[in-house]
Amino acid sequence: MTAQLQSGSDNKTVLVTGGAGYIGSHTVVELIDNGYECVIVDNLSNSCYDSVARLEILTKHHIPFYKIDLCDREGLEKVFKDHKIDSVIHFAGLKAVGESTQIPLRYYHNNILGSLVLLELMQQYKVSKFVFSSSATVYGDATRFPNMIPIPEECPLGPTNPYGHTKYAIEKILNDLYESEKKSWKFAILRYFNPIGAHPSGLIGEDPLGIPNNLLPYMAQVAVGRREKLYVFGDDYDSRDGTPIRDYIHVVDLAKGHIAALKYLDAYDDNEGLCREWNLGSGKGSTVFEVYHAFCKASGIDLPYEVTGRRAGDVLNLTAKPDRAKRELKWETELQVEDSCKDLWKWATENPFGYQLRGVEARFSTEDMRYDARFVTIGAGTRFQATFANLGATIVDLKADGQSVVLGYENEEGYLNPDSAYIGATIGRYANRIAKGQFNLEGKDYQLTINNGINANHGSIGSFHVKRFLGPIIQNPSKDVFTAEYMLVDNDTDTEFPGDLLVFVQYTLNVAKKSLEIEYKGKLTAGEATPINLTNHTYFNLNKSHEDTIKGTEIKVASKKSVDVDKYIIPTGNIVDRDIATFDSSKPTVLGPKNPQYDYCFVVDENAKPKQINTSNNELKPVARAFHPESNITLEVLSTEPTYQIYTGDFLSAGYTARQGFAVEPGRYVDAINQKDWKSCVTLKNGETYGSKIVYRFS
Ligand SMILES: NC(=O)c1ccc[n+]([C@@H]2O[C@H](COP(=O)([O-])OP(=O)(O)OC[C@H]3O[C@@H](n4cnc5c(N)ncnc54)[C@H](O)[C@@H]3O)[C@@H](O)[C@H]2O)c1
Repeated sequence: MTAQLQSGSDNKTVLVTGGAGYIGSHTVVELIDNGYECVIVDNLSNSCYDSVARLEILTKHHIPFYKIDLCDREGLEKVFKDHKIDSVIHFAGLKAVGESTQIPLRYYHNNILGSLVLLELMQQYKVSKFVFSSSATVYGDATRFPNMIPIPEECPLGPTNPYGHTKYAIEKILNDLYESEKKSWKFAILRYFNPIGAHPSGLIGEDPLGIPNNLLPYMAQVAVGRREKLYVFGDDYDSRDGTPIRDYIHVVDLAKGHIAALKYLDAYDDNEGLCREWNLGSGKGSTVFEVYHAFCKASGIDLPYEVTGRRAGDVLNLTAKPDRAKRELKWETELQVEDSCKDLWKWATENPFGYQLRGVEARFSTEDMRYDARFVTIGAGTRFQATFANLGATIVDLKADGQSVVLGYENEEGYLNPDSAYIGATIGRYANRIAKGQFNLEGKDYQLTINNGINANHGSIGSFHVKRFLGPIIQNPSKDVFTAEYMLVDNDTDTEFPGDLLVFVQYTLNVAKKSLEIEYKGKLTAGEATPINLTNHTYFNLNKSHEDTIKGTEIKVASKKSVDVDKYIIPTGNIVDRDIATFDSSKPTVLGPKNPQYDYCFVVDENAKPKQINTSNNELKPVARAFHPESNITLEVLSTEPTYQIYTGDFLSAGYTARQGFAVEPGRYVDAINQKDWKSCVTLKNGETYGSKIVYRFS
């Protein structure tokens, strides 16, 4: 586990209810940016876990997540027991005005009961700071009063629909609670105006299930072709262009408003307590047509639209007076409607279906149903699919035309068994042996724990195969292509290697080509240099039945030149020929039930002087081909790397038997960190990027 995965950080922990949703997810980014730790509770009724997985990569932090309904007191209490909660930001709630008029009981039950249970637990666990997502809806039609536009916090409240009534009722509950125990509570009531836009990274944004209720998400769906045209409800208002005026606020500005409120509560006198409302708006009104034109400009598309009649309940102008927030919270909006449109367009084009992708499935791999231990499948239901785990960013399964072609365990327990042989895992920080576990870097000697004879193998005790990667970000950039990206924060406190390393593992599945590409990237975020050699340790079995060994598998490799090794599998300095068929041999080498046995580092080009720390831009060259006559499946392994280890799985155990799978592990030279000629290709210096690619292709 990385340091960040462990609790016990000094940072204050904020419980974010509804944190998988639109505004909550953006607020989590700002919270972590401001040094807070976050715990998310969400029942996923209007969101999905993928937003949290993306948040992990965006923030480089593990974010504990609980799928719990706030009305479930027992479930929610577990969160208060598991974490030392310092404050709560309460986003969770149903929010569709129209829907609330049809199912008011559900809105009252969900929003009010959920808030009551939460407040009761806060009282019980002595958590006093609470930021509440209220809404400009509580003002109702502020135009019914003279001089109330822009709307100040003093404007009399008068919601006009069940959704607004729930927000109003919760505000009242907070007021009453504060009056009853003034010194015990610090309540910030934030009345949002119209949040729009998305995170500029394009990784998180609004992902409405069903038909969007709001202008911007609706326009985005028209622009990406999911809806035919935009409906403008009335162009006969007394405004600049006849359409109603609203106060739109970029969701990142809104998220920052929560940090300002939390800091205000943090700094507020503990002996006093407070319950206070703040408008979060820009103070600038925009008409529907103005926003429409800004979005058309950002997207470069003239969206079709139709003006229809006014919508019941709509009024001319609802613009905020945000002066109180500016004065007291020292917060004001910084971004414009144009920024929102630009960021929304990036989100919409990069994620036209939001987080909901077809061909993606996930299942829990632990009994306690941990979200960060899910097995995620991409290309599900197609002729080529891949399943991965967060643990080790492991390839759990690959299925070509319905047949599994790799070894893998059913659950996480299998991978955590100390006897399991790195099956399917990402190997790091240093794949293959380091002689006696010793190396010298930048004038300093290092000693790794010996875990393989007299050597350190595959990263020794801090090996990546048992580290929990963050994410994944899953995308579906074109019909046949799926990507899954994992990230590992491997600080020097989590390993015997020097320096803080950030590692990305990006899997690209091409269904049409039946190929899986793996791209590795590594960068030091602290420290001068580290040894690095990353690869994947998938064991292939092309037999129809995986119960059987690899016998009968026919293989050929790019070159029979291999690093000569002593009895401890450490290089002698010579390159030798192995007895193995190459691509130009007339006959392949056939693997038998016991022989031949390989655990050798083959070299693609014996004359090459490998210096590159980043081979990603090199040509992808075939290094090995395997075929099994029984299944008729051919595997081709390609890579950008200078070597490839071939291992015939002669010591497989932990649920598997010897030779039940063979591995082809492209990477750098064995023990390169201790070999003068090869050292630079495994020494990553601060400021450089490590990189490499591997492809498994089936036919
Ligand atoms: N988006 C807006 O225009 C807007 C404007 C004003 C106020 N608000 C308020 O801000 C908050 C966040 O809004 P959003 O736009 O991010 O909405 P959202 O629907 O994207 O997020 C709300 C999240 O709460 C979760 N949730 C709902 N009921 C729950 C329950 N009982 N237990 C656990 N989780 C539950 C949902 O699954 C969802 O992930 C809401 O309270 C909303 O009323 C939103």
